[in-house]
Amino acid sequence: MPTPTQQKLFGVIGYPIAHSLSSHLHAFLYEKLGLDACYHAYSVAPSSLAAAIAGARALNFSGLNVTVPHKQTVLSFADSLDESAAKVGAANTLIFSLRGTRAANTDAAGFVQNLRQYGIDLRDRQVLLLGAGGAARAVAWAAIQAGSKRIFIDNRTPERARELAVSFGLQLAQRDTILSLPAGSIIVNATSVGMAPDADATPLRPAHFRNDLIYADVVYNPLQTRFLRQAEACGAQTVDGLGMLIWQAVRALELWLKQPIDIDPWYEALRSHLLEKLRAASERGQREAVRGA
Ligand code: ATR
Repeated sequence: MPTPTQQKLFGVIGYPIAHSLSSHLHAFLYEKLGLDACYHAYSVAPSSLAAAIAGARALNFSGLNVTVPHKQTVLSFADSLDESAAKVGAANTLIFSLRGTRAANTDAAGFVQNLRQYGIDLRDRQVLLLGAGGAARAVAWAAIQAGSKRIFIDNRTPERARELAVSFGLQLAQRDTILSLPAGSIIVNATSVGMAPDADATPLRPAHFRNDLIYADVVYNPLQTRFLRQAEACGAQTVDGLGMLIWQAVRALELWLKQPIDIDPWYEALRSHLLEKLRAASERGQREAVRGA
């Protein structure tokens, strides 16, 4: 029987955090890996971020995931940043060691790995990135790292698109950019448009769906966003956002354990498990909405 101090402690901090799938995802991984570890979601208000990180260190946590709204502010509490966190300007993973707190961004690697799972290599492809927030920054960096040929950016607030274009050397999308992309180019929705409860929203007009492009979403709730349904309806290949969530978690765990993890044998089982949790959460949400009406 292991003593409690041998058990590895992990968690995710965010605000709000109630809808996070991460504790289900990590519990599944720990069981399959036979890892004596636990992972919980903690609601941490921005004013408590420093205390939460110091507290986790004091309690001997091995690491934390960090989500909205802390991904950028957390950088100032880290002793060192890995290249992805420094380039993206945001971190989703903290690694605690005797040398201090290291911040990493595994969202970027998660995005690339998710596409790979669908047999899509970003090398030499053109990308149109929709959005200019934290998720878009991670995708932009991922695409640059993976060798994308040209990356265009479009965003509701043009100044934010311009800023990202300047810092990453991207091109601003023009009115006809989608129509002039070569076949096999990828359109990535890195906005929050289409996310529950606004699931009827979509970031593109109907004329912007082509059957020779690939449409990827970072949104995973709902899994089949309207954006992906529109793309599928016109015969295009689509990639949902759940895989990115899975792969960023696997990369974080690899950083914490300092060893590679092979999830291929149970990747599909993990996806099904998470889909069930998503379904249950959305049914609960609907019941609550009905009660609230
Ligand atoms: P995250 O860190 O998750 O990316 P964020 O920084 O709030 O979150 O960014 C959200 C992105 O979705 C932004 O690109 C935002 O556009 P603005 O920069 O104009 O705010 C985009 N977004 C959110 N709601 C939108 C909407 N209704 N229509 C178009 N874009 C929207």
